[in-house]
Amino acid sequence: MTDAEALNRRLVDELAAAGALPEEWRAVFLAVPRHLFVPDVIWEDAGEGTLTPRRCDEDPAAWLAAVYADEAIVTQVDDGATPGTGTGRRVTSSISKPSIVAKMLGDLQVERGTRILEIGTGTGWNAALLAQKVGAENVTTIEVDGSLAERARTALAGAGVSPVVVTGDGTDGYPPSAPYDRILATASVRVVPYPWVAQTRPGGLILSPWGNAYDNGALVRLTVDDRGAAYGPFLDNTIAFMWVRAQRVPRPAVPAHLAGAADSTTTLHPDAVAFDDYDARFAVGVRVPDVVTRFEDAGDGGDDFTFWAFCGESWARVDVIDGAFPHRVRQHGPRALWTEIEAAYRWWEEAGRPETGRFGLAVTADRQYIYLDSPDAPVRSGN
Ligand SMILES: C[S@@+](CC[C@H](N)C(=O)[O-])C[C@H]1O[C@@H](n2cnc3c(N)ncnc32)[C@H](O)[C@@H]1O
Repeated sequence: MTDAEALNRRLVDELAAAGALPEEWRAVFLAVPRHLFVPDVIWEDAGEGTLTPRRCDEDPAAWLAAVYADEAIVTQVDDGATPGTGTGRRVTSSISKPSIVAKMLGDLQVERGTRILEIGTGTGWNAALLAQKVGAENVTTIEVDGSLAERARTALAGAGVSPVVVTGDGTDGYPPSAPYDRILATASVRVVPYPWVAQTRPGGLILSPWGNAYDNGALVRLTVDDRGAAYGPFLDNTIAFMWVRAQRVPRPAVPAHLAGAADSTTTLHPDAVAFDDYDARFAVGVRVPDVVTRFEDAGDGGDDFTFWAFCGESWARVDVIDGAFPHRVRQHGPRALWTEIEAAYRWWEEAGRPETGRFGLAVTADRQYIYLDSPDAPVRSGN
């Protein structure tokens, strides 16, 4: 047994022992080793919003250990514009964390013969797992980045599985292979592209990471009906996928000065709305979907920090300083963003702190909305 085979077997055993690998996927994970798909140059977080390359030829053992850890690995930065010797700024492709891949494959509910479209080929590993399970002739995978698609084709051929790999924008779906029984997105959306619904047969499933500017951690599973609509629950709120290219969220800069801001205080700790509880964070995001947040450490070695919220011309900051209570709030612009966030949190509390799994998403040809418990009970956005 090679080192790679031994490491793969250990990872598979660990995932299975932790209940993170559905039994029907075990043989597939053993048959499709991850190292065949990971590029020689991978990227590691170097702090302060930067990524540095790690090359396989510099330390093959460390590279292989990284490949067989239960972690996502960054495989492209800056849409490929930064060479493997530079410093990256933005993660633009990765091979997903094995336990999350396994969970999503289980949630997808497939068997031999199921016809699948995967959005976001990336390295090709997920497509290879799908192809091994349902038959390569039933899998189409689409990648927006031409160089990644080409690399994935080569890796897939090397692994002996050959699903159709398309270079293109997966938000259009891929009509030539439609209709599908399943669409699996491996990049996150704020708006589910309607072509995915139109290209899925009635009774078929769409599984996709989902988010908004406030929170990008959900996984939604929609069932397509026979009237061209799709409905279904959020299954998780702890996964974090990169956005499909056209739906990326801009990262606002903190304002240069605070002049003209309205001064107030709050007894609500920002951790409660953004950090402590995934269900709270998800629910607040449902009410303020266009608000981007950011934590800024005070940089003094202590626990003090500033919580920022941004939307268009509006911003808010809440200072969390040891010994200072209530917390100081400053808000600026046409919208009082902290007031909106606090109201969204109180709404969630008054609703009995519903878990994310009680929310669902409805997608029709002309509208999308979040509901609580039933599609008949839409949740209004709070602004
Ligand atoms: C998390 S990675 C996917 C991982 C992949 N499934 C694997 O097994 O390696 C997300 C991928 O989605 C791709 N992507 C982003 N927007 C896309 C779009 N509109 N259409 C198709 N692919 C897209 C990115 O280029 C990136 O490679």
